[in-house]
Amino acid sequence: MILITGGAGFIGSNFVLEWVGQSDEPIVNIDKLTYAGNLQNLSLLERNTQHIFVCADICNSDEMSKIFAHHQPRAVIHMAAESHVDRSIHGPEDFIQTNITGTFRLLETARHYWRSLPEELRLAFRFLHVSTDEVFGTLSADESAFTEKHCFRPNSPYSASKAASDCLVRAYHHTYGLPTLTTHCSNNYGAYQFPEKLIPLMITNALSGKPLPVYGDGQQIRDWLYVNDHCSAIRCVLEKGRPGETYNIGGRNEKLNLEIVHTICDILQREHPVNYDYRNLITYVADRPGHDRRYAVDSHKIHHELGWEPAETFATGIGKTVQWYLQNQEWCRNVQSGEYRKWVETNYIGRI
Ligand code: NAD
Ligand code: DAU
Repeated sequence: MILITGGAGFIGSNFVLEWVGQSDEPIVNIDKLTYAGNLQNLSLLERNTQHIFVCADICNSDEMSKIFAHHQPRAVIHMAAESHVDRSIHGPEDFIQTNITGTFRLLETARHYWRSLPEELRLAFRFLHVSTDEVFGTLSADESAFTEKHCFRPNSPYSASKAASDCLVRAYHHTYGLPTLTTHCSNNYGAYQFPEKLIPLMITNALSGKPLPVYGDGQQIRDWLYVNDHCSAIRCVLEKGRPGETYNIGGRNEKLNLEIVHTICDILQREHPVNYDYRNLITYVADRPGHDRRYAVDSHKIHHELGWEPAETFATGIGKTVQWYLQNQEWCRNVQSGEYRKWVETNYIGRI
């Protein structure tokens, strides 16, 4: 069986749902269920014994050791993290705790477990660490996209904590020989993304007639990848990746933030017309401190070495995503709880 951490979050739940749809192999899902983790994302698997959910904190070494000893995974997909840049600016502590200490504790557990395995299983074992393109910092308009050889230049507490976790993973391979794999992916979008991130925030605000808060001049660039393409890349790296290597994953979809917001407004105008013009909701607000201007990912390595490429274009992916949010407004209402409202106040009141 395989073990995933953070499998009740956005990317994790998409990964678990796809895994169960495509394979018979059991999957153990460790998640602390923070504000970002939601078992509703996995309600389709309620009675499915192939998915084993364990509510636990990756920082808890005793619990991690028990889970590894009991389930004997052949591989770990490590996704659990604090993942929102704005939250890391308002309160970095949880990011240091989960992303750095949590990854360290998980690596220690994995190392002890891996060393105890018989040789054949030890050789086949993999620890796949899911990281981000943000560790490479920011690019100017004319710089070429990040390759795996770029230096780390993280600019936010979030990206710094992810870079630190990447360094630990690298060290565990180099020093102990733990068969690690690391992926650096660009911005994901798709079903089940918590509406604190740009795309779901804009869709849900637009549907409620609320302002669409564009930071700064809206001319920042991100490289967007549909979440199911990220999941297929992770499966590909798990199956074919070389231990100790890192792989960039991108969608070759560089877009200005404002372009993204316009696209969402235009799809909604067509698919869900209301008595106001969605574009009129766009509101420029104070910029994010330390805001990275541009990310772009060079995915040649994973394409040429492992044969992966994305299945969706931005046009097809964003269409599916808007449809998903239109059809799952009950999910949106449920996650926009008291904690969510508190966050909206923390991040946006006084900014507009
Ligand atoms: P998310 O915030 O939606 O989900 C994170 C999950 O981790 C949640 O279910 C949460 O409950 C769980 N978690 C947090 N702290 C935990 C802890 N201490 N112990 C156990 N579980 C804990 O995040 P996401 O967007 O799905 O991102 C998943 C991973 O992918 C992260 O490592 C992130 O850095 C990386 N990543 C995300 C993107 C993106 O665009 N969303 C892009 C590249 C890489
Ligand atoms: O690049 C990968 C990273 O992408 C992941 O590692 C992170 O976990 C993920 O959150 C994402 O980080 P970003 O900061 O790029 O994503 P976010 O959706 O928060 O913001 C995307 C862009 O939109 C960014 O330039 C900030 C801008 N933005 C965001 C919000 C929430 C706005 O203009 N207004 C907003 O209200």
